[in-house]
Amino acid sequence: MAANVVVGVGGGIAAYKVAQVVRDLVRAGHDVTVVPTPASLAFVGAATWEALSAHRVHTGVFEAGGADHVEIARRAEVVLIAPATADLLARLRLGMADDLLTATVLAASCPVVVAPAMHTAMWENPATRDNVLTLRQRGITVVDPAEGALSSGDSGVGRLPDPEHLVRAALETLAAHPLARDGQDIQAQRPLAGVRILLSAGGTREPIDPVRYLGNRSSGRQGAALARVARRRGALVTLVAANVDPALVPAGVELVQAPSARDMEREVSARLADTDVLVMAAAVADFRPVHVSDQKIKKDPTTRQAPTLELERTPDILATATRDAHRPHVVVGFAAETGTEEEVLERGRQKALRKGADLLAVNAVGEGRGFGDVENTLHVLDRQGHPVVTLTGSKETLAEGLLSQVQALLGTMSR
Ligand code: CTP
Repeated sequence: MAANVVVGVGGGIAAYKVAQVVRDLVRAGHDVTVVPTPASLAFVGAATWEALSAHRVHTGVFEAGGADHVEIARRAEVVLIAPATADLLARLRLGMADDLLTATVLAASCPVVVAPAMHTAMWENPATRDNVLTLRQRGITVVDPAEGALSSGDSGVGRLPDPEHLVRAALETLAAHPLARDGQDIQAQRPLAGVRILLSAGGTREPIDPVRYLGNRSSGRQGAALARVARRRGALVTLVAANVDPALVPAGVELVQAPSARDMEREVSARLADTDVLVMAAAVADFRPVHVSDQKIKKDPTTRQAPTLELERTPDILATATRDAHRPHVVVGFAAETGTEEEVLERGRQKALRKGADLLAVNAVGEGRGFGDVENTLHVLDRQGHPVVTLTGSKETLAEGLLSQVQALLGTMSR
């Protein structure tokens, strides 16, 4: 389907590659508006963009006599920025509007895809890392640069990916966006369109002292798969992540960091009133040290004695949410259980009754099962602990099956 695509061009040597991007998009039938930064015109001139896109090209906000950025932003269905220089990333992160491109991004409500390209040292600089992380947290898709020869003669990470890659990234991001597009049967293609899903993922770390913590082996991969599938189905997803590798977090998902049980409790409860579906996939610590030493705990050289940690229970975030005045329409819990299949199911049943969630996804862990990147089995139980369905496969398959159960519950409610 033809879309209105805005291609923003930054002032980097790789700007010439974007000519092919514009060409491919136009050939595929899309209506492309190119918005170069003033600096980028030193690399590729306006005449090239006008010829390729068949539209006038401006770089300043009021150049055409009106509020161009607002108009361009209103029509845009996706914005692709390439090459995004370190300077442009910084300006986007700060929300600056000092040229037509940054002003358009600020005014746009459509998905934005940014493809950085720069020297490896600039890409790896903490300032750039920080800018990229912030942009991702805001739901902007940042395409990682490729590795190879750089214009400086060095070699490393920082190359602009191939034009096909950029076109695909822009169109996939557009396809995954929950906003309705003309003529689409949103209900069929995006059964979770507009549904606000709050997902927790990863494993909390409970501080002992400034360098030590009590943690667990949850990778956050199941939560990330749930976020990805939920996004694909049109949901508005917020991921409350406890120590999850940011590279696992899918595009278009709002990321909230919550490293400890205390952080997670605060971040989840603050959002309950604005949530339709809560899925607690995080492995939240059940116990934490009562006292957190503000100094590193030292060995006593005179004895062989080790300190004893006094632990306290953490609040049960899931059980609390099910009793909250702002209880989301659907609440889903996870249970990681050890033992034989029968023991796992029985423990799951007891837990379902205790937690009060609408669904409890029980998975068997231990001895290489359940954690990391392996296939596993999920028994989905209802509020009374009765089995609803058993799902087997990759974390993505499990996410699909579980979200289908959530959809079924939402469907029952709306009837
Ligand atoms: N959970 C939570 N808050 C906690 C502990 C767990 O919200 N403090 C949530 C998890 O995110 C998960 C579910 O509760 O969705 C099950 O967690 P689990 O640790 O397996 O169960 P517990 O109720 O803690 O029971 P036990 O450890 O005794 O098996």
